[in-house]
Formats: sequence, structure tokens, C-alpha cells
Amino acid sequence: MVTKTSAETEIALQRMVTIYVVTGLLFLLLPGTFLGVWNLVSISGQHTLGGLSRAWLQAHGHAQIFGWLGTFIIGIGYYSLSKMGGLKPVAVSRGWTSWALWTGGVGLRWAANVSEFHWRLLLPLSAVLQLVAFLIFFATVSRHKAEPGSTKRAVLETWMKLVIAATVAFLIALLVNQVETVVLALSAAHPEIPHWLDQRYLFLAAWGFPVLAVWGFNAKWLPIFLGLREPSSNRLMAALATSAAGLTAASFGYLRLATLLLLAASIVATIALNIFAKPRKPAKTLGVSASFPSFVRSAYVWLVIAAALGVYAALDDTKGGIWGASRHALTVGFLSTMVFVIGQRVLPAFCGMRLLYSKGAHVDISDGPEYRLLPSCRL
Ligand code: HEM
Repeated sequence: MVTKTSAETEIALQRMVTIYVVTGLLFLLLPGTFLGVWNLVSISGQHTLGGLSRAWLQAHGHAQIFGWLGTFIIGIGYYSLSKMGGLKPVAVSRGWTSWALWTGGVGLRWAANVSEFHWRLLLPLSAVLQLVAFLIFFATVSRHKAEPGSTKRAVLETWMKLVIAATVAFLIALLVNQVETVVLALSAAHPEIPHWLDQRYLFLAAWGFPVLAVWGFNAKWLPIFLGLREPSSNRLMAALATSAAGLTAASFGYLRLATLLLLAASIVATIALNIFAKPRKPAKTLGVSASFPSFVRSAYVWLVIAAALGVYAALDDTKGGIWGASRHALTVGFLSTMVFVIGQRVLPAFCGMRLLYSKGAHVDISDGPEYRLLPSCRL
């Protein structure tokens, strides 16, 4: 039960997470997909990747990873972690500040990469805006506490460890982005990250925070939504450690080792989450497509394909095509499928939860009438 003040905070948080989701979808559609298709058409026209503007390729990648996935993660992080720690009005004002800075930063980055207009100023500025937006988010959610009265207060659950690792990886990606943009502004002819560095950075940007965040939220939600057995904590921690080792190897340029470690981590995480094991009870498909469990499983097939293609690319790709296939098996096959499939399950509850007026016995009259969250909307 929540007081009126909490009810107002809940409504304000819902409005905020809705804007985050819509913003992410706009980045996906316009700067992301539009430019991706444009690049693809140019590649098929020229039969090679070589002649394409790296700045445009990178504008597409940045808009998709940070503009779409990043905006979703920050918005949902603000909403769900604020609720877990008790609704606090300050989360709403900080959420809006982060949104303005983040959206401005990602938008500027895209515009500077595509137009090269004052890019030496705009590129580092865009990175600063993104970093500050994220630091506000980081400071807000890292102080959250477990639900009041929860007996689990002292125990850090495995899914939370994965989400924390994802948040740290996100911060590292933004710090590297900041350094990269300053170095480019001082020394490059165009707003293009050199290929050797971009390739290493993309491991962190794609296999780092998005994948770890999905594993973390899957560990929490899939036993409920799909009726899966509880994940194995030890195996999930092994997957996290292997993945961290893979990302470290990639950052030093050991791409064969990195891809092998990421393949191992992907297989271990899939086993740990019991994705293909016999479920303990039927999936909850009320209100969503009956094929919802198959889509979740298909995303994990894509994850393993992406990792295997990465190994193949590290061994044999000289033109960049296999790397691109691996990258999109991961970003479109695994991450996008997962966002769309889990999104349809959780976002209606996050963005449209209704509050019921209640004349319950414990009305806090000092603070106005009392409200309850509709039980059907609880996750
Ligand atoms: C309609 C969908 C999409 C199309 C047509 C498309 C097309 C492309 C093309 C042609 C490239 C350059 C070649 C390559 O490196 O593979 C590229 C690169 C990339 N794409 Fe996509 N893409 C799409 C969706 C996505 C999504 C959903 C994501 C992430 C969530 C994504 C992330 C990336 C990244 C990170 C790069 C590398 C950019 C760089 O070189 O720095 N793409 N994409």
C-alpha cells in the first residue's frame, strides 16, 4: 500500500519511463535503422565495406547501442530500482535530468558523425553529456535499498550481481568513449575511431553491458515468465567471470582468445539459466503471444550463433563481413529479440500500471487518501 505522495511519484515514474522507451524506439528507427539500411544499400552497391564512411557506420552503431539499448536500460533502471528501494520523488527529477543530457548527448554524437559540423567540439561534448547523465543515474540507483521489510536485505542476489556488473561495464564504455572522442578531436582528420580501436571497443559496447544486463534481468524474470527452474548461481558467476576475461582479452587485442571465452561464457550462461531445460511449470502467456517462450529460446540460439561466428571471424575474416554477421547476430538476433519479447511482457506494467483508490482500514489521512497498485499489474 502506498500513500498519495507515493502514488504521485509512481505516476511520475511511469510517465518518465514511457518517455525513455519512446526515445529509445525513436533512436532505433531513425538514426539507427535508417542509417543502417543506408549503409547496407551502399555496401551492396559497392560490393565492399571498404569505401564506406567509417563515421557513418559508427554513427549507426552508436545510435543503436547507446541511443536505443542504453536509453532503455537507463529508463528501466530508474523505474525498477527506484521502486525496489521505495518510491522517492528525487528519482523522478534526476531521471528527467539524465534523460535530457543523455538524449542531447547521443543526438549530438549522431549529428556530428554524420555532418562533421564542428565535430571537434561536438564529439567530446556529446561524450561529456552522456557521461554526466549516466553518473547521475549511477549515483541514484547505486544508493537504492532492498524493499522495506524484505528479509533479503543483506543478501545480494545473483541477478543483482549481473546487473551491477552490467552497470560498471556501461560506465567503463562511457569513460573509454570520452577518452576516444577527446583524442579524435585533437588528432584525427575525421570523426572516425580507427578500425583497430573500434573493433576492441565494440566488444565492450555490445558484449559488455547489454549482454550482462540481459543475463541479469533474465535470471530474475524467466523463472516467473517461463516457469523455468531457478538459475544456477555458481554457473552464472562462472559465465560472468569468463565474459569479463573475454572482454579484457579483447581490449588488449587478443581477439581469438576473447571470442573463445565469450563463446564459453554464452554457453555456460544459457545452461545456467535453464533456457532449454524442462520447465518446472507452464509459462505465463496470458495477454502475450503463446509463442513467447519460443522467442526467448530463439534469442539464446542467436547468442550462441553470434559467439560462434565471432570465433570464425577471429580465425578467418579479412574483409569484415563475418565480424558484421557476428555483431548483428548478437545485436539484432539476441539483444533486439530479447528487448521486444520481454518488453511486451514488462513494459505495459511499467508504463501503464493503474492505481486504485482504496478506503482501506489503514488510511494515512495526514497524507490524503490511500492507493493500491492493481494486483494484476504486479510483476
Ligand atoms: C535494420 C537493422 C540494421 C541494419 C540494416 C544494420 C546495418 C549495419 C551495417 C551495414 C553496418 C556496417 C557493417 C558492419 O559492421 O556490420 C552496421 C554496423 C553496426 N551495427 Fe547495425 N544494422 C542494423 C541493426 C543494428 C542494431 C539493432 C544494432 C544494435 C543494437 C546494430 C549495431 C551495429 C554496430 C555496433 C555496428 C558497428 C559500427 C562500427 O563499425 O562502429 N545494428 N550495421
